[in-house]
Amino acid sequence: MPTPVILDCDPGTDDALALFLALASPELDVRAITVAGGNTGLEHTLSNALALTALTRRPIQVHPGADRPLLGSFTSEPHIHGSDGLGGVVLPQGRPPAAEIAADAIRRILRTAPAPVTLVGIGPATNLALALMTEPALLPKIAQIVLMTGAWAEGNVTPAAEFNAWSDPEALAVLLTSGRPLVLATLELTAQALVTPARIAAWRALGSGRCLQAACDIQATVPHSIRLGGSGAPLHDPCPIAWLIRPALFTARPCAVTVDLGPGPSRGRTVIDRWNRTGAPPNAKVLETLDTDAFFNLLGERFARLP
Ligand code: BDR
Ligand code: CA
Repeated sequence: MPTPVILDCDPGTDDALALFLALASPELDVRAITVAGGNTGLEHTLSNALALTALTRRPIQVHPGADRPLLGSFTSEPHIHGSDGLGGVVLPQGRPPAAEIAADAIRRILRTAPAPVTLVGIGPATNLALALMTEPALLPKIAQIVLMTGAWAEGNVTPAAEFNAWSDPEALAVLLTSGRPLVLATLELTAQALVTPARIAAWRALGSGRCLQAACDIQATVPHSIRLGGSGAPLHDPCPIAWLIRPALFTARPCAVTVDLGPGPSRGRTVIDRWNRTGAPPNAKVLETLDTDAFFNLLGERFARLP
């Protein structure tokens, strides 16, 4: 039986590839795609999610969500994803969005699902937190929450914080304290998913489908990471999806994880107790290592299945 999932995203170049991976994978039953502002404003992340979903020809509803965090003001990430979120790659327009907003859709799907549903979050956690906060009785209907968020060492948006965690730390705190099983793909894990021009060329050679070629075109716009040595760009968001499909490609460690909600320079920093120094009980499985070659082969194989 495929795993039922809701994909909450903010496309976003790496979100685009994560969305393709999820929709191409028979191991997953994507019940809905929910969208927040994040990498760029909601007006772009929503139209990008609609266009990407239409390109896959899968009849999945895309729901508009939060255009800002629970507290504070909205900030985007244009130097990685471009001001349009897809690095300037133009896709055919998708269908209109669902009328139902993201948090309502998440709660409805959880409420009516015959079995618990996995929540996958690859953007700011606002939509997921709003759903949990407004109907906590649904918590048992959440199988697990699988996130790309945080870092146990340095950040990528501030010295201390990773972008998704920093974009809405209060929302992330709601998820971290929910009591539901959590899986985190942090920056240390996604650093092992470094896309080089050679990796993109290898994908391109796998076929001529529009999704495969769009994935390559989008990824080719992403600047190489100086933080990671300059030879490629980390492919963050497909990591949690790949974990759901092929957990054997990863190793993981149970950890107690909190997020800094203070106003200072550490705001949004995830504090990940890898060595159990606090003695606090683990609340998350933190992914630590990735079989990089197998990961990229999986992505290429799945992109090539799409139209
Ligand atoms: C995360 O932030 C965004 O820029 C990416 O889409 C990813 O979800 C990485 O820090
Ligand atoms: Ca993202």
